[in-house]
Amino acid sequence: MVASNNLDSIDIEEVLKFVEEQVLQHTGTRLSGAEKLIIKGSWGGKDYTDIARESEYNTYYLQQKVGPRLWLMLSEALGGVKVKKTHFKEILLKQIKKHYVQLEASKLNSDSLVGKTKFYGKLPKLTSFWGREEDLNCLKKQIRLFNQRCITLIGVGGIGKTYFAAKLVEEIVFENPSLYDYVVWKEIESCSSIDQLVNELIEAFNIQKGTENSLDYKISLISKHLSLYRCLLVIDSFEKLASSETLKKRIGYEKFFIELAKEQKYSCTIVTSQIPLKEFTHVTTNLPFLYWKLEGLDSSAAMQMLYEKGLSGDECKKLIEIYRGNPSELEAVAEKIHRFFGGNIESFFEYRTTVISSRFQAMLHKQFEPNGFLNNLQKTILIYLAKELEENSTPIPFTKLIDELKEQLGLQLSIFEIMADIDILEQRSLVERNNDPDKKETRYTLQPVIKKYILIDPLGLIDEKPNKPKKSTQTANIL
Ligand SMILES: Nc1ncnc2c1ncn2[C@@H]1O[C@H](COP(=O)(O)OP(=O)(O)OP(=O)(O)O)[C@@H](O)[C@H]1O
Ligand SMILES: [Mg+2]
Repeated sequence: MVASNNLDSIDIEEVLKFVEEQVLQHTGTRLSGAEKLIIKGSWGGKDYTDIARESEYNTYYLQQKVGPRLWLMLSEALGGVKVKKTHFKEILLKQIKKHYVQLEASKLNSDSLVGKTKFYGKLPKLTSFWGREEDLNCLKKQIRLFNQRCITLIGVGGIGKTYFAAKLVEEIVFENPSLYDYVVWKEIESCSSIDQLVNELIEAFNIQKGTENSLDYKISLISKHLSLYRCLLVIDSFEKLASSETLKKRIGYEKFFIELAKEQKYSCTIVTSQIPLKEFTHVTTNLPFLYWKLEGLDSSAAMQMLYEKGLSGDECKKLIEIYRGNPSELEAVAEKIHRFFGGNIESFFEYRTTVISSRFQAMLHKQFEPNGFLNNLQKTILIYLAKELEENSTPIPFTKLIDELKEQLGLQLSIFEIMADIDILEQRSLVERNNDPDKKETRYTLQPVIKKYILIDPLGLIDEKPNKPKKSTQTANIL
């Protein structure tokens, strides 16, 4: 393999192989002989006349016919960067370097050493990682240039938070092997508690506890450790902790996060969660965490992912739109299309069904279950939207939603509470908002997977079935 820091001496055949792979993945086509000649020549700094002289083609054909189409195709295949002959080598070098950094990073094991950085905990293995270049670059910049010390990655189940955090850690460490002394990856297990997390971190950092045993004291020890050493700490799936705690205990989180952020000069903490951290805070309105919401993969990354899963063609775009680029949803639907429809997407679409992956279902169960993350008014809003959208999929104006909920519940509703709860639902990516500037109207809708879950109610957690007569739902937020 080529060492990522010695790319200038890279063999042209390897360059060509890399470009061919990218083109094949993105466009499903192979490079022609003339295209390969232009790539080889341009890499060596030759102009079209030189390339033509050494080949069977004439300059006009290469420059006017083949070249423009090739640069356009490469722009698409190399992730949307505009490729021109003049800076082709520079762009390609960047891409190849990234590719090799990724290959090296994917071999990372827990408890391993990269440069001087020691790894603790089980980093997920990234078999292939698509897209999110912009998010990665922005966050790397935030950490390295702007000294951002606390970052929270928010997004629905399966959207790729864990994957993304692992990628971010790998790229930071491989690009700057001496930036951190430790990387600690802590995945929260279901049913664990804040005390358990704090104890495990004390153990991972090998901190001497002394005799005092209170939670506050132990949190302060961790904070001190983070200020003395250069640590990159990842707390993955924080919402699992939050779901098992009572409200009173949740106040402990606030202290935990405030302390983690305190006086950190060199350390950085990354927390992934399905639920925004600010929903757990009561005293502080501004936790010093950079809030970063992950949406689905963009179309080009999702196309590459589907291609890798054996699906290609225009119909993939429809899949990506329906499943909002959610990688684990796309994986689940691709698997079903192969298993039940022999890989034929058109045939799958004829049956007009929506697949809900087990991971997405698990997330929705956690939202809807008794004492889950949703309060009664939030559930009522979601159920109302699902039922309205079942008949007509046009997004629902906010004013209609308020008027009809008021009528349905037969009680006076606090509009303020509805606005607050809709905001929460939107931050958790459970509802989608779109504004109609012409009509000066805000509308809400549900992504198909969430609508389907509510309508089929697989665990009977949504007590109001779509076909049952309407009944008044008691909500905690009714005035
Ligand atoms: N950028 C990506 N490229 C390719 N595959 C991805 C990417 N992101 C996620 N995936 C795929 O989607 C799956 C789910 O991703 P991940 O576990 O990171 O989701 P999550 O947001 O952490 O979900 P949860 O909230 O359930 O923990 C991964 O196992 C992986 O197969
Ligand atoms: Mg995760």
